[in-house]
Amino acid sequence: MTSTASSQDHVLIFDTTLRDGEQSPGATMTHSEKLEIAALLDEMGVDIIEAGFPIASEGDFQAVMEIAQNAKNSVICGLARANFTDIDRCWEAVRHAARPRIHTFIGTSPLHRDITALDQDGMVQRIHDTVTHARNLCDNVQWSPMDATRTEPDFLCRVVEAAIKAGATTINIPDTVGYTYPRESADLIAMLRERVPGADEIIFATHCHNDLGMATANALAAVEAGARQIECTINGLGERAGNTALEEVVMALKVRNDILPFRTGIDTTKIMGISRMVAAVSGFPVQYNKAVVGKNAFAHESGIHQDGMLKNKETFEIMRPEDIGLQATNLVMGKHSGRAALRAKLSDLGYELGDNQLKDVFVRFKALADRKKEVYDDDLIALMAEASLADDDAFLQIRRLRVICGTEGPQEAEMTLRVGGGGEKFIDATGDGPVDATFNAIKMLFPHDARLELYQVHAVTEGTDAQATVSVRLKRGDVVYSGQSSDTDTVVASAKAYINALNRLVMHQHRGNLSALMSSAG
Ligand code: KIV
Ligand code: ZN
Repeated sequence: MTSTASSQDHVLIFDTTLRDGEQSPGATMTHSEKLEIAALLDEMGVDIIEAGFPIASEGDFQAVMEIAQNAKNSVICGLARANFTDIDRCWEAVRHAARPRIHTFIGTSPLHRDITALDQDGMVQRIHDTVTHARNLCDNVQWSPMDATRTEPDFLCRVVEAAIKAGATTINIPDTVGYTYPRESADLIAMLRERVPGADEIIFATHCHNDLGMATANALAAVEAGARQIECTINGLGERAGNTALEEVVMALKVRNDILPFRTGIDTTKIMGISRMVAAVSGFPVQYNKAVVGKNAFAHESGIHQDGMLKNKETFEIMRPEDIGLQATNLVMGKHSGRAALRAKLSDLGYELGDNQLKDVFVRFKALADRKKEVYDDDLIALMAEASLADDDAFLQIRRLRVICGTEGPQEAEMTLRVGGGGEKFIDATGDGPVDATFNAIKMLFPHDARLELYQVHAVTEGTDAQATVSVRLKRGDVVYSGQSSDTDTVVASAKAYINALNRLVMHQHRGNLSALMSSAG
């Protein structure tokens, strides 16, 4: 067994927010965002962090390598297709970790065998060669038969046996297309444990996609059948409908420990903080009624519910807000609030800041409090999201924006934009409304062929001085880029959200096309 071997009652948490999550259309993250998320995952007790796909691009490689160098406790894992070049590149990146892991995979279902043009014998040979190669580099090797749930059971047993014989220490069973059902998920793990020689020597992992909304149930069913590693992401981020949500499986194991007698090493009080961080940097807001981390997950508005809650919280609450890092405080902040009060308030909200970070956030808070009399929790959450998105090295940066509105159109936007290393550019554009004029200015200063797919505004709190959070989605070819921003001025928030999405587009152009890489896995 490897150093990550778990006792019978311990389930390892493998987080793939930075790999499978980041792969979902529009969720591209910057280098510093990835490092920050990895640090939070490490701190909250995630056993294994899948930090990226090092062969995909120089940027992915650098991110995995730096995450590996910085990791304190977590095993750092990189993904590699079933070929020596991918595996070598992956090792180059993860070997800097105190506890590295190589994760190599190949599609084993008939559909995937067609793509790679390998027959069953050819595939078994490929698995033997590549897992052996990975194991010669690293003593911690995970192997996955992609699309396992649609692979013929006999062949699945055969390939899993080949991977174990070649030295894999963890066998991950992916439900790549979110097709399986909880009973099937359990039966599959039970079958492999029963039929495959050497199965007792390795850890089985479960990796479920959520296309039918069953990812969490399927992961837990696999655990009941003997899997001891759950692959998951924060907020369930991931390809298509996403992956198993970390917060759901961890809280299910905690709350229903009576029927699921397993433990994880996760500090659940860190859940809310990282959930907000991932929502901000990915541009994927958490749905209001999302289990565990949705805004309404602990809100009780109906009269009957409120009455019950006042008498005994357990009437309608199966977990306490503080268990996931939510504190019920009513302290409203304002321009007279000091740095210590801000630090305490942010800590209640799940954000632990270092001194330098606090200094920066305090300046932003003061600027907001000058414009807004009362600063509520949601304003601070929006401000923290804004702070995590601010990037002084961003390719496009708004230097100045002035919008002229009136009952007589067209509206006018004067904008100065810093474009890469090329200095500042100025334009005076018009449009059908202030937002249209502002977006036209951006398009003239930085011509591009991405289409605006979504423009959404919502008020963070109430009142005419409320902040607006604006989400923008741009589409270029098949790829979607999201941007988000908040400001008391809706037009400023719109401009920043648009620029944010464009910066992600620019960044993405320096990367390989991940989807193409994944579908050619072999
Ligand atoms: O869904 C999947 O099959 C994957 C593999 C690479 C493990 O993400
Ligand atoms: Zn996946």
